[in-house]
Amino acid sequence: MIKINKHIFDDRERLFDQLLKDIIRDLEGGISDRDAASMLLSGGTTPGPLYEKMSDTEFSWEKVIFSPTDERWVEADHPDSNEKLIRDTLIKGKASEAGFIGLKSAGAAPSDGQKETEEKLASLPLPLDVVLLGMGEDGHVASLFPGLQDTKYALSDDCASLCHGIHRDGDDVDRMTLTLKCLLSSKRIYLLFFGGKKLEVFEKATTEKSGTLPVSYLLYQDDVPVSVYWAE
Ligand code: 6PG
Repeated sequence: MIKINKHIFDDRERLFDQLLKDIIRDLEGGISDRDAASMLLSGGTTPGPLYEKMSDTEFSWEKVIFSPTDERWVEADHPDSNEKLIRDTLIKGKASEAGFIGLKSAGAAPSDGQKETEEKLASLPLPLDVVLLGMGEDGHVASLFPGLQDTKYALSDDCASLCHGIHRDGDDVDRMTLTLKCLLSSKRIYLLFFGGKKLEVFEKATTEKSGTLPVSYLLYQDDVPVSVYWAE
């Protein structure tokens, strides 16, 4: 299991300020190595304040390419779109020149759009400089929800793709998620989550690699450093 760097904060504002500094440092490293940097961005309700801070930070954003870690299969102007979230909170103001690769492509379902999305992702500078992930209380990251055949495949060594469609019974829409292969094609992974329940789930995920807690697949590997940023 990879050594996990835990950053525990007694206040979310301080967490976001530190995480911003760490991300800027990492992106600077990517730009100094190859004049470009790449970062995957989580959706959800947690990272918004961080994205707003990034959009208000002077940086060579024109040299940075962002992509979501997952996407609902909706148009980019739909309220549930992660692309919309990122464009509304991050790619604006001082960061308006940043590049963006969306995961939604043509087709009625992710399986129809898979080839196009995979081709778009091929232009991401690899290894990714930063992968920022949230985590659900069921231990999912991106849209790798436990208990699904799609997730099992996207987490497996058989999956050579960077993205994969996710169907979950009961959901309004299907999703496109980045796969374990893609998430681990990175220099570092930051896991950002709040609250005691999620911390408990995370600690459980450190005890064994299991499909019931997909986040555990990010921990039981030996190549990519993982840092946790947590506050109550
Ligand atoms: C999404 C995210 C998802 C999110 C977790 C946590 O598209 O919703 O990529 O993986 O990070 O569900 O969500 P919260 O931050 O809202 O708790």
